[in-house]
Amino acid sequence: MATRDSHLPGRTPESVTPDEIDRALDEHPEGAAEPAIPPATGEAARRRGPFTKGDRVQLTDPKGRKHTVVLEPGKQFHTHRGAVAHDELLGQPEGIVVSSTGKTPYLALRPLLADFVLAMPRGAAVVYPKDAAMIVGYADIFPGARVLEAGVGSGALACSLLRAVGERGLLVSYERRDDFAAVAQRNIETFFGGPHPAHRLYVGDLAESTETDMDRVVLDMLAPWEVLPTAAAALVAGGVLCAYVATATQLSRTCEALREHGAFAEPHAFETMLRDWHLDGLAVRPEHRMVGHTGFLVTARRLADGVTAPPRRRRPAKGAHGETDTPSADAVGPEASGQPATDAVDTPTAAPRPAGAEPLDTLAASAPAVIQAAADSDGGGTPATAE
Ligand SMILES: C[S@@+](CC[C@H](N)C(=O)[O-])C[C@H]1O[C@@H](n2cnc3c(N)ncnc32)[C@H](O)[C@@H]1O
Repeated sequence: MATRDSHLPGRTPESVTPDEIDRALDEHPEGAAEPAIPPATGEAARRRGPFTKGDRVQLTDPKGRKHTVVLEPGKQFHTHRGAVAHDELLGQPEGIVVSSTGKTPYLALRPLLADFVLAMPRGAAVVYPKDAAMIVGYADIFPGARVLEAGVGSGALACSLLRAVGERGLLVSYERRDDFAAVAQRNIETFFGGPHPAHRLYVGDLAESTETDMDRVVLDMLAPWEVLPTAAAALVAGGVLCAYVATATQLSRTCEALREHGAFAEPHAFETMLRDWHLDGLAVRPEHRMVGHTGFLVTARRLADGVTAPPRRRRPAKGAHGETDTPSADAVGPEASGQPATDAVDTPTAAPRPAGAEPLDTLAASAPAVIQAAADSDGGGTPATAE
């Protein structure tokens, strides 16, 4: 219900003028109904409520082992600890515990996207959930965004991108291997329960695409530096390019190519280390094991056409560009050289070329084929742990 407080938020009563109160009450009269919250549709509807036929359910045993089942009336899930009847789950709420005929309890939940991605069939290596989360955050993927992605690989990152852009956004994915594209299509359709309305998947090399008007470009491929002209042509001014690379040499090459290209502002690179914690009474400590390395992320903003990147106000380290092996004082930081950082000279590291898109007619004109993989809501691809 609308009240004076709810429509003049953040204001003290003394600071509100009578006119403002009248205006607020005209727009939102007390007692007027708040706009109705639309009922859940699509993924939101499928992820709520009691388990129904066709639902994917993750059963976790007391040792934390996970098994995925797709519910079918009359079917059973068999383990060496006895069977669990699907009928015991159908119609029940998420979060119940069912027991096998061998008396082993299993916690029953719908798998999260992170669970799904780690269990789904793979063609290429997937982007892990921690990196997918950072990509969605740091590449600033927003609802309704138009995103260009390559390569789609197994479709793991595509699932996160599709969730973030939503049904009114657009994700255009390129994958040059048709076998990987087929795996990705199946995984995406399994996760979303059918084709996602915002997804277009093409088999082909991103370098040959002629996409334009994209808010974001996300690259997970061996040589992102080879497709920077395509990415620059695709991105709107101010758009974000985000590349995920596995090695330091790829990272260096990508960043130098971004600088040299001229259509991008200074790149930002980082990695994410995720360490789980062991929680047991007073024995609360980091886990002994962790995934030490997955990849690096690089982001850079697209400049407006005709604008050159401002020169970097940083002296390049001697040897950084291969001219000598002797590390300079700068290589260990300006303070170490006895020189304050503000003394740094203006030295552009790359001769900027006129910014702007590569002419589209230099890109291959061949239209890539849209994948026609049949919708298979039961997920033709069965996760390794599925029954
Ligand atoms: C590591 S995999 C991508 C994994 C994917 N992001 C995921 O999360 O499942 C890299 C993929 O990029 C594809 N690829 C490499 N260069 C490409 C290009 N120029 N255009 C399109 N796809 C490309 C490869 O075939 C490979 O499938």
